[in-house]
Amino acid sequence: MGFREYLEKIVKKGALQKVDVEVSKKLEISGILKEIEPTPILFNKLRESEFRVAGNIFCTKDVIAEYFGVTPADLIPTLSRAISGRSEPEIITKAPCQEVIESTVDLDKLPILFHCEKDGGNYISSAVVITSDPEHGQNMDFHRAMQFSKEKFAIRVVRGRHFHQFLERNGELDVAFCIGNTPNVLIAGATSVDIGIDELHIANALEPVTVVKAYSNDLLVPANAEFVLEGRTYLEERHAEGPFVDLTETYDVIREEPVFEVKKITHRKDAIWQALLPGALEHKILMGMPREPTIFNKVNERGVKCLDVNLTPGGCSWLHAIIQIDKQTEEDGRKAIEGGFAGHRSCKHVFVVDKDIDLYKPHSVEWAMATRFQGDTQMVVKPKEPGSSLDPSAEPSTKLTTKVGFDLTKPLVAKGKSFEVAEFPKVDSEKYLSKEA
Ligand SMILES: Cc1cc2nc3c(=O)[nH]c(=O)nc-3n(C[C@H](O)[C@H](O)[C@H](O)COP(=O)(O)O)c2cc1C
Repeated sequence: MGFREYLEKIVKKGALQKVDVEVSKKLEISGILKEIEPTPILFNKLRESEFRVAGNIFCTKDVIAEYFGVTPADLIPTLSRAISGRSEPEIITKAPCQEVIESTVDLDKLPILFHCEKDGGNYISSAVVITSDPEHGQNMDFHRAMQFSKEKFAIRVVRGRHFHQFLERNGELDVAFCIGNTPNVLIAGATSVDIGIDELHIANALEPVTVVKAYSNDLLVPANAEFVLEGRTYLEERHAEGPFVDLTETYDVIREEPVFEVKKITHRKDAIWQALLPGALEHKILMGMPREPTIFNKVNERGVKCLDVNLTPGGCSWLHAIIQIDKQTEEDGRKAIEGGFAGHRSCKHVFVVDKDIDLYKPHSVEWAMATRFQGDTQMVVKPKEPGSSLDPSAEPSTKLTTKVGFDLTKPLVAKGKSFEVAEFPKVDSEKYLSKEA
């Protein structure tokens, strides 16, 4: 299924909000998206562009689970299976994403949004970025791109990313920014797997994708993408990038980042631009969800039975992990904490809970902390660890941070009071209640 086919599906369900009045790509669409989040929305008329814009499309785990026909609790096994069972997409020669080949490149004609007052410019935030290296083959990930001329962007490339390694090895690279994708492609692009694994193969295992050779280079791009911006990225040609609102909802700093020069724009007929609100729920879900299986696996590798993992939105879906275990030994809580940090290196705080705690309910987790936790024996403090570049409280130049693990599990044998929640009698309250006249 392509992005627009999904939109057509949710139109039939009455789940897509439409806006027919004219709106601006500058500081208007972003405000509406934030205001009505997580409702999916389609903007039919833009002041500055002939193209339509859709946003808030995949904001929750429920929506993504429904897309794949599984329950939210099945997302971790589904993604794990796709990573291990990845497969090559079918290559086709005539693709929807190349229905229209623009004769000139003029980025001003695209609905590239200006999201927040202090942003450094118009930004693409939803694109999966495809590139290739002679030895390692194709890679797909995400890079926000700040427009600074009619043909050029400055793109944020976190050091160490496979894209960055490819750029350092080659000096310059063919790239394709693909906009308007479904969760199989989006989630695959956000996974961190071994170098040399093409994330489009993971996308194909989640749900079959077809790919087509890009119009002006040899990269294989998702055939159903709404837009493909093809061009070249240069390691040495740099431009100021930022400020920009990041995952933490705070402004990221200005850095000198590589330039992406667009050489060709292809798109579907009546193409629909996919907006992705920075720092908002959809951004958080896409960042955090692919880290949950890696934590899950690292905890299990340590001999602890992991039941579920949740990178919580309050923890920016990046810095806080709640790990639910079926505790068998007194060591399991600490082992799960270590597994949590090993499975997601940017994680700052790990909370381990028992199977009777609902890890999707902050109240339930806080209750476990209140009733099952003692700071002197159940807390693991790891000072001066390499942390996340996203965390404003980490040491600015080194990104060193203090990591803390909280074992909120109850002891296997209670020494004093019981840890069990008391059961109240089950009654059918309807039978007893009368309405006020
Ligand atoms: C919506 C979204 C936006 C992202 N933006 C960036 C970005 O601007 N720069 C960056 O280096 N990583 C960004 N990331 C993270 C990487 O794309 C992600 O960690 C990816 O797994 C790295 O791929 P790799 O393992 O092939 O290096 C973003 C992820 C998401 C989901």
